[in-house]
Amino acid sequence: MNLKSHLLPEEIFSSVAKCATKVNLDAYVIGGFVRDIILKRPSKDIDFVCVGSGIQLAKLVAEDLKSNNLSVFKNFGTAMVRHETYELEFVGARKESYQRDSRKPIVEDGSLEDDQNRRDFTINAMAIKLSSEDYGELIDPFDGINDLKKKIIRTPLDPSITFSDDPLRMMRAIRFASQLSFDIEADTFDSIIKQAERINIVSKERIIDELNKIILSPTPSYGFKLLFQSGLLHHIFPEMVSLHGVDTRDGKSHKDNFYHTLQVLDNISKNTNYLYLRWAAILHDIAKPPTKRFHKKAGWTFHGHEDKGARMVPGIFKRMKLPMNDKMKYVQKLVKLHLRPIALVRDEITDSAIRRLLFEAGNDVDDLMTLCNADITTKNPTKVKRYLANFKTVKKKLIELEERDKLRNFQPPISGEEIMKRYNLEPSRIVGDIKSEIREAILEGKIENNKEQAEIFMQEIAKARGLEN
Ligand code: CTP
Repeated sequence: MNLKSHLLPEEIFSSVAKCATKVNLDAYVIGGFVRDIILKRPSKDIDFVCVGSGIQLAKLVAEDLKSNNLSVFKNFGTAMVRHETYELEFVGARKESYQRDSRKPIVEDGSLEDDQNRRDFTINAMAIKLSSEDYGELIDPFDGINDLKKKIIRTPLDPSITFSDDPLRMMRAIRFASQLSFDIEADTFDSIIKQAERINIVSKERIIDELNKIILSPTPSYGFKLLFQSGLLHHIFPEMVSLHGVDTRDGKSHKDNFYHTLQVLDNISKNTNYLYLRWAAILHDIAKPPTKRFHKKAGWTFHGHEDKGARMVPGIFKRMKLPMNDKMKYVQKLVKLHLRPIALVRDEITDSAIRRLLFEAGNDVDDLMTLCNADITTKNPTKVKRYLANFKTVKKKLIELEERDKLRNFQPPISGEEIMKRYNLEPSRIVGDIKSEIREAILEGKIENNKEQAEIFMQEIAKARGLEN
C-alpha cells in the first residue's frame, strides 16, 4: 500500500527524504503519526526513525527547513526539530530490552524491524518509507492496518514481553481502546490481568498522563471498566474500587456507586471537556464507602459523604501527582457542594438558600449545576422529569438573584479597615463579627448587597454593641 498522498505537509516529508538520501540513510515515518493519518485524525507530532544517527539527520533537516529550533538529547540519541506548528522527533532505529525491575532499558542500534518489534501495539508499529525509491510505501509487519480496520488493540510480540518491557503499556492499551472505541484482543487483555501488579514500578507522573487521557476520552466509563476488569484500577485508584458492589440487609439494597459514578462521568462528558470538572464527577461520591451505615428504619445512609469526600480530595490528588493548586481546590469545592442544588430542589426553594449557594460556589456555580444535572441517574422517568423541572426553577432563580445581588464574587460591601477606622478599633474579633453580621444580613435578604444599605445596618449593629450612640 502506498500512502504518499497522505504525507502532508509535503515540504516536511520531502525534506527528510532528501536529507536521508544525501547521507545514504534509510528513513521512515513511524508510530502514532502513521496510525493517525490512516484514521484521519490530524496530528502535529511526527516521529522519524532512521537506520543510523537520528541526530545527524535532524541537523540536516533543521538546516534544510531553515528551522532554528533544534534540540539535541545526546544521552537518548534523539533530536527534535520544530517547524511551524509541527514537532519532528528523530531517532536511530534501536533494539531495546528491559530488566525486570527497572525501567532503564539496555539500548543497542538495530534495524527497522528491531525497532518495530519493540513498539507497543500493532497499530503503532507501522512505518512509511521515505527514501526515493518506494517513497510512501507502508511497512506493516504485524498487520496493524487490519487491526485498525477491525478496531483492535494488540501487541506485536507476545504481550507478556511487550508489557514487561514497559508496564505503562497496559494503561496505554486501555487508553487507546477508550480514545478510539477499540477492543483489546483477548490474549493482550489476559496478559494485562496477569501483570497488572507491575504497574507499581511505573512513575505516578506517567500513570496520571494516561489516566487523564482516559478521562478525556468520549465515553470514559469504557476505559474505567477495562481498568477495573484488568485489576489495574485496584493498584492505581483503590478508593474508586471501593465504590463497587451492592450490600443488602433486611431486603434493602443501595445502588452500586461505582457504576453510578461512571454514569455521572459519561453524562458530564457530554457537556464538558474540562478535565477537572470530569474529575469532580469521578470524586463526587468517593466517600460513600467510609460513610456507609445501615439503619433499621432508614435503610442505607451515606451521611456527610460530601464533606468527607472533600477532605479526601487533597490526599488523592497528592498521591496521584495531580496539581495541588486551585484546580484541586475547585474539585474539592464541587465535591463538597454537590448535594446542595439537589437539596434545594427537594426542599422549598428559598431565596436565602439560593443566595448562600451563590456565595459559596462563587464563579463555579455553573459547573456545580452541570455536575448536579449529570448526577441524576435514576431510571424512573417520573422522577427524572420532576428533578429536571425543579432544577430549571433553581437555575432561573440563580440567574434572577445573581442579577440583583451580585453574589458570585462576593466582596464585603464594608471592609474590615473601614470598620476599624470608623469605630476606632484595633484589629480584633469584634471587627470580624460585624463583617459577618453584615454578610449574614445580605444572604438572608434583610438588606441588599450594596454599600448604602450595609452602612445603615452597620450603624444598627454598632449601636446594639454600644459602639455608637
Ligand atoms: N511507544 C511505545 N511504548 C510506549 C510509548 C510509546 O512503543 N510506552 C511508541 C509507539 O509506537 C507510539 C510512539 O512510541 O506510537 C509514540 O508515542 P506517544 O507519542 O506517546 O504516543 P502516540 O502513539 O503518538 O499517541 P498520542 O500522541 O495520542 O499520545
